Amino acid sequence: MKVLTLDDFDLKSKFVFLRVDMNCPIDPETMEIIGTKRIEESTETLKSLKDARVVIASHQGRVGNKDYTGMDKHAKVLEKFMNKKIKYVEDVIGEAAQNAIKNLEDGDILLLDNLRLCAEENYEFTPENAAKTIMVSRLSKLFDLCVLDSFPSAHRTHPSIVGFSQVLPACAGRIVEKEVRNLDEIMTVAKAPHVIVLGGSKIPDRLEAIKLLIQNGRADHVLLTGLFANVFMRAQGRIKSSLGIKREDEVVAKAHALIGEYPDVFATPVDIAIDKDGERVEMDVREMGKGDKIYDLGPKTVEYYSKLISGAGTVFISGPAGFFEKENFSFGTKGLLNSVANSMATTIVSGGHLNSALKKQGLADKINHTSTAGGALVLYLTGEKLPMIQALEDAAIKYRSK
Ligand code: 3PG
Repeated sequence: MKVLTLDDFDLKSKFVFLRVDMNCPIDPETMEIIGTKRIEESTETLKSLKDARVVIASHQGRVGNKDYTGMDKHAKVLEKFMNKKIKYVEDVIGEAAQNAIKNLEDGDILLLDNLRLCAEENYEFTPENAAKTIMVSRLSKLFDLCVLDSFPSAHRTHPSIVGFSQVLPACAGRIVEKEVRNLDEIMTVAKAPHVIVLGGSKIPDRLEAIKLLIQNGRADHVLLTGLFANVFMRAQGRIKSSLGIKREDEVVAKAHALIGEYPDVFATPVDIAIDKDGERVEMDVREMGKGDKIYDLGPKTVEYYSKLISGAGTVFISGPAGFFEKENFSFGTKGLLNSVANSMATTIVSGGHLNSALKKQGLADKINHTSTAGGALVLYLTGEKLPMIQALEDAAIKYRSK
């Protein structure tokens, strides 16, 4: 591997800065965590660090969004998974955090508060400038090693992701190690046609990545579900009323340009289901009324998409096909996952929602690679080097040349 791993270091009694991604789905009413998969995943790395003094750093949500909150609840969930005390400090770089770090003993684990409460963590930097941030210069003095394990945010260039490795020895945690190893293997055997099934919500981020995927020959068919389907159908003029999403005009214009440039690549639903007073009502897309919101795919669309999936050499599916948490709107998500799992293609499933749905359906073993990452994985598949991976490779070169 081009990156160092935890096996390359003597970890006993070392102060370790561990960047993980505990960005979880949050119920906007109760502000409770409703999907704990990413927290559970981090335990593998923590077990390897059992003799060290570990400080965990993560973000949760984006400033101003409904899922932006402190990390106290994450500490409680982690405590259950680890079955041991997790210390928590309501601070990131101040005196309280620094004292809590200095007081750690062997085997202790401390979780810092949401990294994004520091303004710097909300900006993208070059690695050199990230190393000059107050966050990195203050905290790095307290650590012996930086472990980067937040694969879902590996496409970001925030100080916690690309800054610490400039000034500290750095290696991959178990999640990043596994992702890189599996994905590198898979990408060497991936065959055309490449089918991408795209749902989920972070539309502006993904539109750029879709273009790169098509340009790099990694997306022969893009099957749109969820909010993506809404955006593209609005761009086609098949949905008349506003979708009520952020930056709607901009994303719809981008979708319109993509359809114009690649007219044979995108597939949109032919039938859908809407929510009428809690009931599932199926209809042809042409019958949709003003204000009707798509909650799920209809059976004709699932059949149409499944045919394309069964003819694929490689399938990548990201994001649920609708409001799958509600049983009567889970038809599309279940149907597509079933087709992916039973196809002869090399298969990659991305995102926490789909992974828990896969598990529930007992299909997880039939998938070549599952990942809780979303946007980072999409970008990885375009063939672009992710900033976190680059940072780890640079750190490995530096370390090995000593
Ligand atoms: C994700 O969930 O995709 C990662 O945690 C990155 O979050 P971000 O898109 O808010 O940077």
